[in-house]
Amino acid sequence: MNVNNKHYRTIWINEKSPKTVRIIDQRGLPNKFIVETINSVEQMAVAISDMHLRGAGLIGVAGAFGMYLAVLEASRGNSFDKRLKAFADRLQRTRPTAINLTWAIQRQLNAIRNVHSMADKINTSLETAHLIANEDIASCLEIGKHGFSLLKKIASRKKKGPLNILTHCNAGWLAFVDYGTATAPIYLAHEKGLNLHVWVDETRPRNQGSKLTAWELQQHGVPHTVIADNTGGHLMQQGLVDVVIVGSDRVTADGHVTNKIGTYLKALAAHDNGVPFYAAFPSSTFDWKTKNMRDIPIEERDPREVKMIEGWRNNKQVEVALTPKNSPAANYGFDTTPNRLVTGLLTERGLCNANRKSIARLFPQHGA
Ligand code: MRU
Repeated sequence: MNVNNKHYRTIWINEKSPKTVRIIDQRGLPNKFIVETINSVEQMAVAISDMHLRGAGLIGVAGAFGMYLAVLEASRGNSFDKRLKAFADRLQRTRPTAINLTWAIQRQLNAIRNVHSMADKINTSLETAHLIANEDIASCLEIGKHGFSLLKKIASRKKKGPLNILTHCNAGWLAFVDYGTATAPIYLAHEKGLNLHVWVDETRPRNQGSKLTAWELQQHGVPHTVIADNTGGHLMQQGLVDVVIVGSDRVTADGHVTNKIGTYLKALAAHDNGVPFYAAFPSSTFDWKTKNMRDIPIEERDPREVKMIEGWRNNKQVEVALTPKNSPAANYGFDTTPNRLVTGLLTERGLCNANRKSIARLFPQHGA
C-alpha cells in the first residue's frame, strides 16, 4: 500500500545488502514511519516477539525471511543442520498463537532439506521466503474480491446511509505483506465507490486498532471512527453496525476462530443483535490438527502492557502508568470465538460456513 505516495510492503529484502531484510517498525506508528534493517536471526526473533512487526500473516512471512537469515548464518560454520534447527526453534518460540509462523518455518525446513549444496540451500530459502510473501499478497487480494461481493450484498439491503463495518485489532496491510484480510474488502469497496464507514476498536492493551488500523484507513481516505473497546455492543443495539469483519491468528478445521483478545465479546454482541460476524484469513491460518479449541495456545504477554499506556507528546513517544503501582495485571493476547457465533469464513478460495463440512468443501485436501 502507499505511504506518502510511495508503495511499500511491510517486509522486503534490502536491495543494497541482500543478506539483510527490511521491515516497517510498527512501534512508531501513527506518529513516525520507521524502517528497520534486520541483520540476524536473533534480531528477527526480537522484532517478532517485541512486536516491531505483528499480525498473523506478517509473523509467518517474517519467520520465512528469518529462516533465510538462519541458512546464511548456519552456512558460516560447522554443524549446519544442528544450528539451523536451533535457529528454527528460536524463531518458533517468539509468538505462540499465530499458526502462520509454524506453517512458514516448517515449509522452509522442508524446502531446505530437499536441496543439498550450500548455495542451493541459500537460494532455496530466499526463493521460498519470496514465494510465501507473494502468496500472502495474492491471498489477501482474493479475500478482498470475495469480501467485496459480500459487502455489496449486505449494502444492497440497506435503505440509506453508509454501510457500517466494525473491525477489531489490525487485520490490515500492516498485519500482512500488503492489503490485509479484514481490510482488503474494505479497500476494494471504497475504491469502487461503495458508501462505507468503519468502526475501529482501539484494542487494548497495545491499541493496534487506534494506532494502526486508524492510520491505514486514514492514509487511504476511508471514513472511520475510533471507539473504545467496550462500545461495539451499544452500537449494535442502536442499529449502527451492519457487519463485523475481523482477522484471525488460528482457525480450527471446525471453524473456531482465535483472534485478538476481545473478539469473542464482539461476536457475542453481534449474535445477540443479529449482526453478521465474519473472519477473514488466508488458508495458512488454518490449524488442521487441533481438535479441541481449548488446546489452542493463548499467548500471555508482559503485564506491563496492561499497566502502562504509550502515546506521543511533542513528537516524543512517552509511556505513562494507568494502574496502582502494585496492582497485579494479566495480559492474555487472544481469545477463541466458537463456530456457532461465526456467520462465515472468508478465505482466498471464497466464503464458507464455520463448520468442518463447509471448510472441507473449500479445502478438500484437508477434508474431514
Ligand atoms: O498481537 P497481534 O497484533 O499480532 O495480533 C493481531 C491480531 O489479532 C489480528 O487481528 C490478527 O493477527 C488477525 S489478522 C493478521
